[in-house]
This record gives sequence, C-alpha cells and structure tokens, in this order.
Amino acid sequence: MQLIDGKAVAEQVKEEIAAQVAAMVENGMKRPHLAAILVGHDGGSETYVAAKVKACAVCGFTSTLIRYEEDVTEEELLAKVRDLNEDPDVDGFIVQLPLPRHINEQHVIEAIDYRKDVDGFHPINVGRMSIGLPCFISATPNGIMELLRRYNIETRGKKAVVLGRSNIVGKPMATLLMQKTNPGDCTVTICHSHTQNIVEECRQADIIIAALGQPGFVTADMVKPGAVIIDVGTTRVPDATKKSGFRLSGDVRFDEVAPLCSYITPVPGGVGPMTICSLMKNTLLAGKKSIYR
Ligand code: GUN
Repeated sequence: MQLIDGKAVAEQVKEEIAAQVAAMVENGMKRPHLAAILVGHDGGSETYVAAKVKACAVCGFTSTLIRYEEDVTEEELLAKVRDLNEDPDVDGFIVQLPLPRHINEQHVIEAIDYRKDVDGFHPINVGRMSIGLPCFISATPNGIMELLRRYNIETRGKKAVVLGRSNIVGKPMATLLMQKTNPGDCTVTICHSHTQNIVEECRQADIIIAALGQPGFVTADMVKPGAVIIDVGTTRVPDATKKSGFRLSGDVRFDEVAPLCSYITPVPGGVGPMTICSLMKNTLLAGKKSIYR
C-alpha cells in the first residue's frame, strides 16, 4: 500500500505557482489577486478561508478577505459580488459556502462573473467542464485529478465508484473521471443515499472516491484488494485529546482499509491540502487570463 501524500504534493504545486508568479512580476505583470467573501463565523468555513488566505501569501498572490455577519441580506451580498465583478484589480473571487439559510446560494453563485469564478461553481463553468472545454474546475475534484496524475495512477478503463452526488465534489468528480483524458477514461458509477447494493458496487471498484461526509462509511468488506481509495471526508468529530476539541474524520475506516489497497489518501493530509492548491491554480489561471480573456 502506498500513502498518497497530498500535503507534500500541495507544497510542491504551491512552489511551482510561486515561481510562475515571480516570473510574471519580473515581466511587469501584476500579482494575481484572489478575494474571498466569508459570511458568519462557522468554524469549518473560518478554518478553510484562513487557509486560503495563507496559501495566497505562499503563492505570492494578493488576497482580500471580506467579512459579513450572519444577518447580511442577500441583496447586500449580491451588491458586493457585483462590485468584485467590476473591480479590475480582482482576478478571481469566491463566496465561502455554506451561506445562512435566508440567502439563496444559487442566486449568489450565478451573480458571479464566470470569468472570475475560480471556484468553478457557475453554471457556465460547470457546463463547459462537462463537455471538456477550458474552464475553471471545482477545486476538490481537480485536486484529486492532480493526485492521480502525479502518482501516475492508471485510470484508463478502470471502474470508478464515486460515493456522493454533491454539485461541488461528486458530480464534477464523476464528469472528470469519465472524460477522454489522462487521468480519465473511467467507467463511472455514482452512488448516493438511495443506491441499492452500495456494498456490491464498491466491491467491484478499482477506484473509490468517498465523498459522502459520513465518518467511517467505507469498511474493509467494501474494498476490492488492490483498489485505489480517495477519501474526501472531513467531518469534525469531538475528541477531548485535541486542543481544538475535535479531529477530522474521513469517510473511510483507514486502519482496516489501508492494508487492502494499492493507494490511499489519509485524513488529514490527503485531499484537503490539494483542494486549496487547486483554488490557487485557478487563481493563477485567472491572473494570467489563460482561460477567459
Ligand atoms: N465550502 C466547502 N467547499 C468549498 C469550496 O470549495 N468553495 C467554497 N466557496 N465554499 C466551499
């Protein structure tokens, strides 16, 4: 079994990005600028956004964090999105999800100029991805593709099972794995809460992408010997031994599954660091106007 070290790959990718930014600046171009909107004080969102701001500094990007309290109105938020759309200094921006219940996330996502949508959540980017056109690709699935690429994991003709059908992980993951690319060319099955025989589906998989958000869902009896296991789960579970009072739990029972498989991502240190790194890559592309003029 080989451990997929997402943390190490992410560090390497960020170094590559920093070198490109240094070259851009040397050639008189401006530093790529990422803005992030954070609403409220959800612990997970605070942590992710802080990590994104920190990664911007490592990559040599300018970053701006815009905060709103939980009671911000949808109209106020949409006005800020329109400001950022028009701001020539901002190359890309994100609105951290989830948003409070009184705000319609889809309205916000669709208000973002798709040319600055470095999260890849706008329907134009989702649609372009689905037909293989240049676009901003959702960070988590793109980070997983990068891990498969850098570890030279064979995907062509393999059976991949994606557990979970979210718009930001499961669906784009399935789309990318089936694409005529390398990595790609998989036969893909998406499983979700209404799937029958989920154990049987998983047992046939050469590659399992676990993105349900259910700690320890994937057990040893669901894994074919030699399978590749990618664990996207990051559920906070109480842990009195930790200073924070919690630890991150993956969707895979690592201890029992790891000895069976060919490759596996740990939690933490697997997919998580790559997600942030993919956002940095999209920001670089936005700064260079590589995808959209
Ligand atoms: N919430 C969970 N993942 C993400 C992400 O990739 N981007 C944004 N904006 N919010 C998220």
